[in-house]
Amino acid sequence: MMENDNRIVSGVFRVEDEDNDISLRPKWLNEYIGQDKAKEKLDIFIQAARGRKESLDHVLLYGPPGLGKTTLANIIANEMGVNIRVTSGPAIERPGDLASILTNLSDDDVLFIDEIHRINRTVEEILYPAMEDFALDIIIGKGPSARSVRLDLCRFTLIGATTRSGQLSSPLRDRFGVLLNLELYDEDSLKEIVTRSASILGIPIEEEGALEIARRSRGTPRIANRLLKRVRDYAEVLEDGVITLDVAQKGLEILEVDSLGLDAVDRRLILTLIENFSGGPVGVDTLSAATGEERITIEDVYEPYLLQIGFLNRTPRGRVVTKKAYDHFNIPFIED
Ligand SMILES: Nc1ncnc2c1ncn2[C@@H]1O[C@H](COP(=O)(O)OP(=O)(O)O)[C@@H](O)[C@H]1O
Ligand SMILES: [Mg+2]
Repeated sequence: MMENDNRIVSGVFRVEDEDNDISLRPKWLNEYIGQDKAKEKLDIFIQAARGRKESLDHVLLYGPPGLGKTTLANIIANEMGVNIRVTSGPAIERPGDLASILTNLSDDDVLFIDEIHRINRTVEEILYPAMEDFALDIIIGKGPSARSVRLDLCRFTLIGATTRSGQLSSPLRDRFGVLLNLELYDEDSLKEIVTRSASILGIPIEEEGALEIARRSRGTPRIANRLLKRVRDYAEVLEDGVITLDVAQKGLEILEVDSLGLDAVDRRLILTLIENFSGGPVGVDTLSAATGEERITIEDVYEPYLLQIGFLNRTPRGRVVTKKAYDHFNIPFIED
């Protein structure tokens, strides 16, 4: 869907985020803002592994796009003092591709597989013995004389990233020793991220301005950084360059990001539910058909935030719009 890709409030990576990513990406755990639960766990595991001079157990990172999974994978490698090799589920096409990546890893190296839920079945089967026994089973010869040979691999750490752990097959999920669920960020953490990014990029910003951007970033650091850059453009061209509360509000208004960070697509989603389905319950497939948005995009990109701000409830019978959402759009809520 082009519309999703072009949304300024989509957590999905866009080309314009790239220069941000390089300079703004925290390199160490103590620079990584928020996610205290995940950080605390990781800190312990990293210290323990380092103390025993062992490789870190395999780590699965899951959470919506833009929350810091790739960042965290790089931090883990940094903190462990090891190399990281980066690939993604869809990029590994054949078992041989994965085999060659695995045989080229050194002891304790990190192999980061982004979008690991999109790995194909035959490739996935190579991962099982690799993760469990650090071994690669290969078949030599053909027909009756074929035999299986086991090759030893170095002890590596696999870090997998996925938008939802539920999309992973259970044999794969079960082979991760550490599961870290990244959650949407609260306003304070996002404000800290905006302030940190502004200082790295040399953007003058007032506390209230940073908070306003944080508030409209849908709990997502990638969006916060993107809005910061766009508001800076506005501040430089139409104001005196300083991001105050007023400048942030005006800039965001021009970007059509409303007070809660909702944009046209969110509005359409909620309004479709209200106008065509009396607020629900509606099954996600029906909603997908009615809005033309893919089911997986609805579930991974829109819903987490709409659920978090209490605009939507997931019930066994489908999605239901809450009174809070009706109020936000000034539509009378009629209780049935
Ligand atoms: N905890 C954090 N603290 C500061 N900045 C962060 C944090 N998490 C993410 N970011 C910023 O958000 C951007 C997107 O993060 P990324 O790791 O690419 O997300 P994901 O891989 O989950 O889609 C990064 O470039 C980084 O600048
Ligand atoms: Mg990523």
